[in-house]
Amino acid sequence: MGYSVTTPIFYVNAAPHLGHAYSTIVADVLARHHRQRGDDVFFLTGTDEHGEPVANVAAEQGVTPQELVDRNAPKFEAMGPVLEASNDFFIRTSDDRHKAAVQEILSRVKDNGHVYEGDYEGWYCPKCADFKTESEIGENNTCPIHGIELTREKERNWFFRLSAFQQPLEQLFADRPDWVVPAARRNEALTFITGGLQDVSLSRNGITWGVPVPWDLEHVFYVWWDALLNYVSALRFGREGEDLSQSHWPAVHVIGKDILKFHTIYWPALLMAAGLEVPKKVLVGGFLLVDGAKMSKSKGNVLDPFAAIEQYGADAVRFYLLREVSFGQDGSVSMEGLKLRYETELANDFGNLASRSIAMVRRYREGRLPDVAVDPRIADVFAGLGDAVAAQLDDGQISPALEAIWERVRRLNRYVEEQAPWALAKAAKDPEQAEVAGAQLDQVLRTLVEGVRALGVLLHPWLPLSTNQLLVALGAPDLAWEGSELGRGTTGEIGELPQLFPKDRTVDGAAA
Ligand code: MSP
Repeated sequence: MGYSVTTPIFYVNAAPHLGHAYSTIVADVLARHHRQRGDDVFFLTGTDEHGEPVANVAAEQGVTPQELVDRNAPKFEAMGPVLEASNDFFIRTSDDRHKAAVQEILSRVKDNGHVYEGDYEGWYCPKCADFKTESEIGENNTCPIHGIELTREKERNWFFRLSAFQQPLEQLFADRPDWVVPAARRNEALTFITGGLQDVSLSRNGITWGVPVPWDLEHVFYVWWDALLNYVSALRFGREGEDLSQSHWPAVHVIGKDILKFHTIYWPALLMAAGLEVPKKVLVGGFLLVDGAKMSKSKGNVLDPFAAIEQYGADAVRFYLLREVSFGQDGSVSMEGLKLRYETELANDFGNLASRSIAMVRRYREGRLPDVAVDPRIADVFAGLGDAVAAQLDDGQISPALEAIWERVRRLNRYVEEQAPWALAKAAKDPEQAEVAGAQLDQVLRTLVEGVRALGVLLHPWLPLSTNQLLVALGAPDLAWEGSELGRGTTGEIGELPQLFPKDRTVDGAAA
């Protein structure tokens, strides 16, 4: 089955920070999980390269906009591999193939009667690239998101008849109550719709850095339409020799809360106008905060994903962000918080559980995992977990899914303490107890290794590198989601496991 997931495409006039990385990691968890389920996944990310801010920065720096984006886009493209993001394509909106698709689709919207020429006058935030409605204007005509003064814009534009989609959008929200997650964001979008939709600019006049309007070459398309259309244009050329437009649309979009209106109102309306299906789901994340304020370039409080990963590794940073910040809410992050989760949850809870379990098989059974049944009490603890986690991820319950798995990490740690395999090993040396204690030890070891293996499968979307290492050591590298059930793994020889989350990484300044 085709499955598509996207991140927002990033503005290139800043350097990537952990706030950008967050959407990419969430989308990557979904992409990896769906590959484990056997779906034919297309995971898309990229850069949003047009618009006035880019043209302005280029002018300040004395380069052409194309030169500027060519210089900056690779920084975002490089973020993917560093995060272990498994995106299948990286789209750049200055790509001619994207521009051709934008022109074709928006011409179709015009042919379908949803476009007209008119005069625009109103307030505009250049940083949001957004024309603000009355309800979106802060005190003294400022942008509530950026705090800067809005500019008064007056121009002859092409308009998109958004108002005509009020009823269809209300219907969409009624028919599919969970198409925007979490519910608070869905309600926010719905309130905006029911408050009354006004038509919006489709084009901008007098700007040259953008996709030309084919029927009026004095204009370029308003950058948000150009940007949103990446999600469908990329399907035409993102996989060599194939057109994924049929098999991989609609997609699941992962976005931040500041771009809710564009994705849950403008975008589905435009798709309807073009005769295309609306997105499958929009998953809306909150903001990463540093000392209580949104992490952003303009606030100068950004955490650098490259530095954090150099010290702790990609798995740790992925895990930390998704565990620390409940998806859908704002959450504070810090290097101290990363260190703490690394030590407590990754090194102690998970890493230790894995290395102890394997080490005990090596110590007590010469590295051969006994071929006995797993302890039914622990099999029960894992029963149905794979399906439950899959359903949570499908519903956009990203944080509860990880918590459900982590509950089992904690359960297995308790199991080790309860069963005390070291005491069983000692008892097994006593001829009178050898048979019973030996059999019990076999079961405990097999249960632990099976549990750890299943956790490796389940945690793979969050911790791709360490779970691969673990599963290879266990001689069970298969990532298929069915493997999340206990008892699926092999027995016999198991390998050595290097420390998954070495403690020396947490020494300040220590590189990976
Ligand atoms: N170019 C537009 C998106 C177009 S999508 C068709 C854009 N770009 S952006 O680079 O400014 O932001 C990209 C994403 O990063 C947004 O979803 C935004 O919410 C997210 N984040 C930027 N800073 C963030 C945090 N501090 N925390 C979490 N996400 C934040 O908007």
